[in-house]
Amino acid sequence: MTVVVSCYALSRLAEQKSTWWKDAVVYQIFVSSFKDTNGDGYGDLRGVIEKLEYMIDLGINIVWLSPIFDSPMYDMGYDTADYYRINPIFGDMEDFDNLLEQAHQRGLRIILDIALNHTSSEHVWFKRSVKAAKGGDEYFKDFYIWGDPIVDEDRNRRPPSNWESVFEGCMWEWVPEIQKYYLHVFGRAQPDVNWENPNLRNELWKVLRFWLDKGVDGFRLDAINCMSKVRNQDLCAQRPGKPTVSGWPDAPISTPNRFEQKANEMFANGPRIHEYLKEMHQQVFARYDALSLGEMSCGITPELGQDFIARDPNEQQLDLILHFEHVELDCVDGDKWVLRDWELPELKAAVSKWQTCMAEAGGWDTIWIENHDQPRGASRFCKDAERGQLNAAKLLAIWLFTLQGTVIIFQGQELGMTNPEEFSEEMIRDIETRIYWDVAHADLALGGGDHKLEMAKKAITSKGRDASRIPIPWNSNHETSGGFTDNSAKPWLPIHPHFATLCAEAQRRNPASVWTFYRDMIRLRRQHPGLIYGTYQLVDEHHPSVFAYTRIHGGNFYLIVLNFGREYVEWEVPQAHGRGWVPIKLTSDYEPLGLEVTKLRLGPYDGVICKRESCKAANGDSESDIV
Ligand code: GLC
Ligand code: CA
Repeated sequence: MTVVVSCYALSRLAEQKSTWWKDAVVYQIFVSSFKDTNGDGYGDLRGVIEKLEYMIDLGINIVWLSPIFDSPMYDMGYDTADYYRINPIFGDMEDFDNLLEQAHQRGLRIILDIALNHTSSEHVWFKRSVKAAKGGDEYFKDFYIWGDPIVDEDRNRRPPSNWESVFEGCMWEWVPEIQKYYLHVFGRAQPDVNWENPNLRNELWKVLRFWLDKGVDGFRLDAINCMSKVRNQDLCAQRPGKPTVSGWPDAPISTPNRFEQKANEMFANGPRIHEYLKEMHQQVFARYDALSLGEMSCGITPELGQDFIARDPNEQQLDLILHFEHVELDCVDGDKWVLRDWELPELKAAVSKWQTCMAEAGGWDTIWIENHDQPRGASRFCKDAERGQLNAAKLLAIWLFTLQGTVIIFQGQELGMTNPEEFSEEMIRDIETRIYWDVAHADLALGGGDHKLEMAKKAITSKGRDASRIPIPWNSNHETSGGFTDNSAKPWLPIHPHFATLCAEAQRRNPASVWTFYRDMIRLRRQHPGLIYGTYQLVDEHHPSVFAYTRIHGGNFYLIVLNFGREYVEWEVPQAHGRGWVPIKLTSDYEPLGLEVTKLRLGPYDGVICKRESCKAANGDSESDIV
């Protein structure tokens, strides 16, 4: 009897306090590609309004809108020209207010994607900052990060530091008219704002409050761990780098024979980052019932992640963070274009580490695999999954909806969208991909050889950001590009070649479709709080193709077994995990539900969720052994 009590008590300890974003399912909309209502080939806010019912049917709770602020669209809106104005491509403030109202009427929350690390070089702050350097307008002078050149004895000028920008080339851009460089972590038209300046920070808090006062439910904060940059004086034993006379240290040389060097340790998780984010929490988020979801694509570890989501009220910074280890397994040294083969145990280790670390810190994980920067999941996580392989998409759905954390899906993921397989130049709209493609051409001109170009094409088809940004097919109508736009209008990116089978209309009619599976998984997760809140534990960490884990919550035990491989596999439930497992959901329904499971035979990309309700081990082992 006592043993049973301790088993329940243990599970209860792990129980998390429920808040609205914890058990929610987030749906990311890349507005340009979602639904066009005025026939200009770009999706718009009215298109989002039109599809609110679609999201309700799917079971979504939170809609994340990719940036909708005024922008020259150099980086698809991640370059803001005016934080207080809606991008005219997407509509106007009235459209936005309508959208918010209609979403809220349906119980849907809206979070906005906002880049606060940088603006567009078209932003009036930037223009005034340049002007300030010539005299006047003091207030804006230090709104951006300006650096003086380093001049050698021969009067040669070089940038203040050797940092390489995320997209390409030097992170410092020269402005001849004021003889200064500005810093840009991302593209050259995206100057970083200077968070060291309290006036700038106050302007940003005002922006956030403006939208929260309107009623938005939170923000996805772009590149939020890049705000604090390392200076000479910040170098210490834990930070590499070499001081320079400019005040900005050089990053260590990782690629010899060139000036620009990878500089993540210089611009990500910098010395003042926690101070800034605590201030943002106190000045903004603490005053609203709003979600802060921080994107940390540049160098984040689970240990660092714990500090950002600390729940101590004095230390509070962010509710959730987006981390990237699981989607960087196929990169060599973090370079997305250099592809690497990876093994399933690596994925299991990465996912398990984050699951455990976030829970240990009293925080909450985010569960996702696709977004506007990442290729589609099925071909990536299920090796050799052929196009349209239904099971692979369903397997990924089981996986996502049975991990601990807030689940975030990207538009079209619920349709099992795949990357368009063929390379075409027409597809290259993204600035990062465009730069990479131009460099590949420049290499060719220098005698790089055709094979390099072929490799670049392959890398772009499987990793380029346009692959997941193509329009959503709503129906099978050719003239309207699958219902995305009007008759004969040209979508800004080509539609998927298999749009007629992938489209929402066809899938919603089909009980065996990926769409139906997603809808059912969302429902199932809601019916079983253990799948949301249960403690996660990995099982069989070394198995090369099976990813299995348990979730334990109250008196409920779940065992999830997923075959990530394309071969049949037999997998025996380890004795230590007890007996009495009954399948409650399968990717394919060839096996009758209701039978007790001790050994599983799983086909290619088959997955199963099993459940049992007692702590009792069939072999009579003590209860505490069952984990
Ligand atoms: C984030 C966005 C990405 C953008 C970059 C610069 O990583 O997700 O799309 O290019 O930040 O803002
Ligand atoms: Ca439009």
